Amino acid sequence: MIKLTDIEFQQFVKYMHSNYGIDLSKKRQLIEGRLSNMVERKGMKSFSEYMNSIKKNNKDEISLLINKLTTNYTYFYREENHFKYLREVILPYEEKTNKLKTINIWSAGCSSGEEPYTLAMIMSDYFQLKKMSWKIQILATDISQNVLDKAKEGIYSEDSIKNLPPSYKTRFLKKTSDNKYEISQEIKNQIMFKTFNLMDPITARNKYNVIFCRNVMIYFNSATKINLVNKFYEATQPGGHLMIGHAETIQRGQSKYKCICPAVYKKE
Ligand SMILES: C[S@@+](CC[C@H](N)C(=O)[O-])C[C@H]1O[C@@H](n2cnc3c(N)ncnc32)[C@H](O)[C@@H]1O
Repeated sequence: MIKLTDIEFQQFVKYMHSNYGIDLSKKRQLIEGRLSNMVERKGMKSFSEYMNSIKKNNKDEISLLINKLTTNYTYFYREENHFKYLREVILPYEEKTNKLKTINIWSAGCSSGEEPYTLAMIMSDYFQLKKMSWKIQILATDISQNVLDKAKEGIYSEDSIKNLPPSYKTRFLKKTSDNKYEISQEIKNQIMFKTFNLMDPITARNKYNVIFCRNVMIYFNSATKINLVNKFYEATQPGGHLMIGHAETIQRGQSKYKCICPAVYKKE
């Protein structure tokens, strides 16, 4: 197994932090463990040789590195309080007040699609036939191409869907011949999947009613996180919300969002 030297480790930490915001300064073993076989298979003798090839900006190499070094764990209906809040507070409010009948939702750091598909199911279930008179847009983005490919395919294991309400499983999933579950076309059609690095400027013309960025910023350091939260604030509609992971917090005074309850923030 090729060993990572101290200097090489620092190079990886710097590269991932300055390009993708991801803080790997305490993840030496993870870098070595996830990359060493691949570096060896490429016939390279050291991590420095590999880093030099990354620095030549070869898109495929960089994409492979991101796929290896991101943590993509997720499942359907994760941290369900957010979905409850969406159904019981946000959607009734939008129904009463949203004259344009347009709802924009962004799942930022969507991984393999479980979060945005959960959102699409809730929107379909909430609006039922009334959905025809609404313009509902769900954008789902990630930097890892691997997970986005899986998301677009929309096929999941039994374990991943186990928290979904039974009625959702019946209505929105189809069992495949190898005992997996495929998302219905109706739900797939509601989502636009895109590659997007959260370190880049957010240039969307339409602002978002709700941004979900859950279990993504835990991998960022504090300054990167505050920067991103401020960009989200600018991209949120007045009255709109930001949802972060239940293990994450935004310190008081670090953003203009108002904290409504743990992990739920509102732009007033
Ligand atoms: C643990 S998953 C979270 C998935 C889902 N939001 C959830 O809560 O279950 C974190 C995702 O954030 C993505 N990510 C990390 N850094 C990113 C960045 N700079 N830009 C976009 N996505 C990023 C990773 O690729 C990964 O798929």
